[in-house]
Amino acid sequence: MDAMNQTPELLKAEILRLTRQYAKLTHGAMLPANDPARVCPELATSVIPYAGRVFDADEVEAAVSSSLDFWLTLGAQGEAFEAELAAALGVRSSLLVNSGSSANLIALSALTTSKLPPHRRVRHGDEVITVAAGFPTTVSPIIQSGAVPVFIDNDPVTGNARVDQLEQAFVPGKTKAVMMAHTLGNPFDLGAVLEFCQRHELWLIEDNCDALGSTYEMPLAKARALGFGPRFGQNPSSHFHASTGAWGDLSTQSFYPPHHITMGEGGAVNIVSKAALRSYAESFRDWGRDCWCASGKDDTCGRRFAWQLGELPEGYDHKYIYSCLGYNLKPLDLQAAIGRQQLKKFPAFVEARKRNWALLRAGLNGLGEFFEFTLPTHATAWSPEGFSWDDSGCRTDCSWFGFMLRVKPSAPFSHTELARHLDAQRIGNRMLFGGNLVRQPAFVHLRKERPEAFRVAAELDGADALMRQALFLGTYPGLTGEMISRMIEVIHEFVGLHATA
Ligand SMILES: Cc1ncc(COP(=O)(O)O)c(C=O)c1O
Repeated sequence: MDAMNQTPELLKAEILRLTRQYAKLTHGAMLPANDPARVCPELATSVIPYAGRVFDADEVEAAVSSSLDFWLTLGAQGEAFEAELAAALGVRSSLLVNSGSSANLIALSALTTSKLPPHRRVRHGDEVITVAAGFPTTVSPIIQSGAVPVFIDNDPVTGNARVDQLEQAFVPGKTKAVMMAHTLGNPFDLGAVLEFCQRHELWLIEDNCDALGSTYEMPLAKARALGFGPRFGQNPSSHFHASTGAWGDLSTQSFYPPHHITMGEGGAVNIVSKAALRSYAESFRDWGRDCWCASGKDDTCGRRFAWQLGELPEGYDHKYIYSCLGYNLKPLDLQAAIGRQQLKKFPAFVEARKRNWALLRAGLNGLGEFFEFTLPTHATAWSPEGFSWDDSGCRTDCSWFGFMLRVKPSAPFSHTELARHLDAQRIGNRMLFGGNLVRQPAFVHLRKERPEAFRVAAELDGADALMRQALFLGTYPGLTGEMISRMIEVIHEFVGLHATA
């Protein structure tokens, strides 16, 4: 083709046509497992990953198209993705950042702003209740912001916080917030945590990085008492349900490749309860500036040279007025373009994760003598027909990040031996992130150097049990039925070898 005779539009269309052709030829192995065009590697010699990117020509085309536009920094794609993500979750708005860790940092930082009334503001030395076993960057932003994380224990059955310990962790006048994750897609007991936060006027940040697509349900009367219902305009049924990430004041997402959807690197802060939290979060994300103009725009407030803030002279350029000590944690527009395509596939991804979890649970069911299997919060038992539930009236529906099991202390093998065997058999597996974080070198050093930097409010036996016994397998939409059967077969073989040894 003669490029010289083409308009830019025609040329771009041709590049994108070729891009799709290229993607189809090269990335067939990255298609969802149930796509008929999926190229499946030879099972006998290939790795079965615990997670990974699942995409098709749409994402590659979106990335190339955005590159050709060469806007680079966050722009129209970012704005559209923020609106689409907020609508998918049922939150006021979403703010894109460059990782889930940044999202946690920005969410916590937003609560430190001097624009909040003193009794709500998280100040130096104030306490934030969190949970001991999990991912480190759910906790480190608390310390990075000058506050003190207070650890409560995990329930090893659900992987989530032991909500019966919340009151003992609370200190009037010092505790300002609760910040914890929905472990591996299993919603924590939002009913209990929200009641606790309401009772003591505390902020709640849900780390929803591993739980996109999970939902939580509670009786309507309880939801109403907590201030839900009218805000979301739900049907007048006896129960109210909403996505995790839509219950706290703020919540966070990660779009790193193992997560439910990806934009390569990336994350988001979701603004749930108060619109003003967005401007605080945005300021911390964008250098700490007071001005809220989108990049490339000036004078959105119409008063660019009419402000007098701090001790600056009246009329000082609003673009360069800083009301907090911020960062620059924005992603690229290209990443947002990829995220938008992923979001379209997200409902099917969630269904695949649920299906894969159920297949693994059924396939390993005969091994209850050796393993404890994770239960969704509020479930009391699993059977092939489904879960039994406690009498709280609350329910969870998990968009599983992984399939976690715990090797029983009585088993004739350790979880490390199982992990080694799975590795040798090329089956991806992970431990529960940092295990009991207090035992990580970073926290051991911190305790020596600055013992007041964090506080442990309870015995952390559950977190230790998870650290010593738990590992998780993949549930991601790239896993074929054949791969899952192989995972089940290898675990049965391993147990068989040890049980008869
Ligand atoms: C619960 C949780 N929070 C935060 C993060 C950090 O996300 P990112 O890797 O995008 O920084 C992770 C990472 O996997 C996570 O599992």
